Amino acid sequence: MDLAAFRALEPLCWRAPSAHNTQPWRLRYERWAITVGWDPTDALPAGDPTGRDLRLSLGAFVETCLIVAADAGLRLDFVADHDESAHRVGRLRPARQPYRTPFRTADVCARRTHRGRFADGPDAAVLAAADDAARWAGGAVRVVPAAAGRLGALLRAADRQVYADPAVVAELRRWLRLDRARPDYRADGLSDRCLGLSRPAAAGLRTALAAYSVLRPFGLPRLLAAGDDPLARGGTVLALVAPPDLDAAGQVEFGRVLMRVWLTLHAAGLAAHPLSQLVDVAATRDALGALLDVAPERIVHVTRVGRPVAAAARSARRVDRVGGRPGSKFSDNIPDSRCRERTLHG
Ligand SMILES: Cc1cc2nc3c(=O)[nH]c(=O)nc-3n(C[C@H](O)[C@H](O)[C@H](O)COP(=O)(O)O)c2cc1C
Repeated sequence: MDLAAFRALEPLCWRAPSAHNTQPWRLRYERWAITVGWDPTDALPAGDPTGRDLRLSLGAFVETCLIVAADAGLRLDFVADHDESAHRVGRLRPARQPYRTPFRTADVCARRTHRGRFADGPDAAVLAAADDAARWAGGAVRVVPAAAGRLGALLRAADRQVYADPAVVAELRRWLRLDRARPDYRADGLSDRCLGLSRPAAAGLRTALAAYSVLRPFGLPRLLAAGDDPLARGGTVLALVAPPDLDAAGQVEFGRVLMRVWLTLHAAGLAAHPLSQLVDVAATRDALGALLDVAPERIVHVTRVGRPVAAAARSARRVDRVGGRPGSKFSDNIPDSRCRERTLHG
């Protein structure tokens, strides 16, 4: 197989999800393989100090590459070869058979994170399909019981703790894209549209965060945490539970599982709204562990899931047409019919 043929597909692979939409993945083309690595400048050292979300994002990217290649008739597989100091997770290699997956490039392109209102949550059949995707790798997808407002209290506690940390807030500010005139608005990060913020709400958030160091002692973290209640927008909260003692390579593998779970949900007309703060904050992760009766460290991801009542905004991507580094052309410019927009229910 001519590995160079994969280059043209790269922009499609960049539709993979990543925490804060940092798109940390990098591909390096070699003679016999394509190395999948990451750029540490796109990691989140404050918000994701253990690198869990980085590795989940890289795994989601690997799975996306395999799906996109298979859909284009390219035979690729992935061999894990995790090396933290070399910033490498493994290699995409020519294979005898195309990667076996029920998903297509069109699914990769149409899937999106949805932070808005959900009409209802997943039914038993969808839950079973999502759970199957995780069981294949020794994990499980579990429904987090709403438990009489307990989950809402946990979410507020997690948000308060996250907003109380100046380093985490500074990092969030770096990746927030609230100014539509800036060129990076169409490249990466979290836009006001994707966050579902009205113009006044975006302006208010920008002002509050600009004055963060002054207002922090006067209760700004509490105010920011109280400012949003995603659970009131419906859906069911699911936890992705991994096997015990998952190492770094295992977390990348679970990023692949996460992608399959999200595409399974997408195929059923559902979308995910991750609530990673519940896992990031030790106290709320412990409480979730108790609610689910699993060891807290086995919970690698938590997300609200449901049937969106309206389409979500499409998130931005950097696109590199010549190699593994981010370039200046944005995904809006991709003239590729394989990544044509599909309507939410179409
Ligand atoms: C590992 C991981 C963790 C994430 N955590 C959150 C989160 O806590 N809150 C949130 O709103 N979105 C979260 N996201 C969603 C990303 O922000 C989203 O994937 C990115 O902005 C790109 O948008 P898209 O998924 O619509 O393509 C997470 C995504 C991944 C892969």
